[in-house]
Amino acid sequence: MKPQPFLRTVSLPPGHGAPGEFPFDLPLFSRPFQLDFTSMVTILVGENGCGKSTLLEAVAQRAGFQIEGGSRQHRGGQEDAAVSALVPALRLVWRYRGVRGFFLRAESFYKFAQYLEEAGSDFRAYGGKSLLAQSHGESFLALFRNNFEDGLYILDEPEAALSPARQLSFLSILRDLTRHGNAQFVIATHSPIVLAFPGAQVISLDGGEFREVDYRETDHYRITRSFLEAPERYFRTLFED
Ligand SMILES: Nc1ncnc2c1ncn2[C@@H]1O[C@H](COP(=O)(O)OP(=O)(O)OP(=O)(O)O)[C@@H](O)[C@H]1O
Ligand SMILES: [Mg+2]
Repeated sequence: MKPQPFLRTVSLPPGHGAPGEFPFDLPLFSRPFQLDFTSMVTILVGENGCGKSTLLEAVAQRAGFQIEGGSRQHRGGQEDAAVSALVPALRLVWRYRGVRGFFLRAESFYKFAQYLEEAGSDFRAYGGKSLLAQSHGESFLALFRNNFEDGLYILDEPEAALSPARQLSFLSILRDLTRHGNAQFVIATHSPIVLAFPGAQVISLDGGEFREVDYRETDHYRITRSFLEAPERYFRTLFED
């Protein structure tokens, strides 16, 4: 049987928050929605500024993570990011609400690594080497390889630090973790490689609505592909005086 996601639904019921105020001023959150997770890997894709991070941060907080990211047990440091009004407005429906997982909030991963360092962590759960003593991409991959097992994983642009080859390694880790249905991932990405994960539920947030798409329909895939096939065609237009 196909593994079932344990976070089943995220919705914004009617009559939420103050219209016209952030984040309800964004087209995506200006009306009620319901997002049903149908795969162990759900990928959110959309233009810069459409609301992916805003949504992931709110879902992560409702799921029990701190806004600045980390594991569900992580309770380090001050909250310096604004908590959006979306947090109390969202409704989450669970099939099973586990306690493990990780929220990778791209901007504050360094702060999480620093917190572990200051807390005297031996980094055993992260491959045995301080995350601060590894390169950006190495530390990301060490985290994915050593710390992720079962649970809910919310990742905002996990590709940010990874070379194309390491993005492929990431896909292989993703497959190992999800094939038995013990880990669920909700990922925001701009990477055409990550988007291609077999069996992923890809949801476009463009145009102010949630729309399930084939990854080959996304601008990310189409533009990258057509650019790589003939970059000079793009440069003729882009660099036109
Ligand atoms: N605290 C805030 N107050 C007001 N507007 C905000 C706030 N945080 C984000 N925004 C705006 O909300 C919009 C959505 O931001 P968000 O970070 O969710 O986009 P995104 O889809 O993650 O984009 P990207 O692909 O660039 O990461 C942006 O236009 C942003 O400027
Ligand atoms: Mg973002």
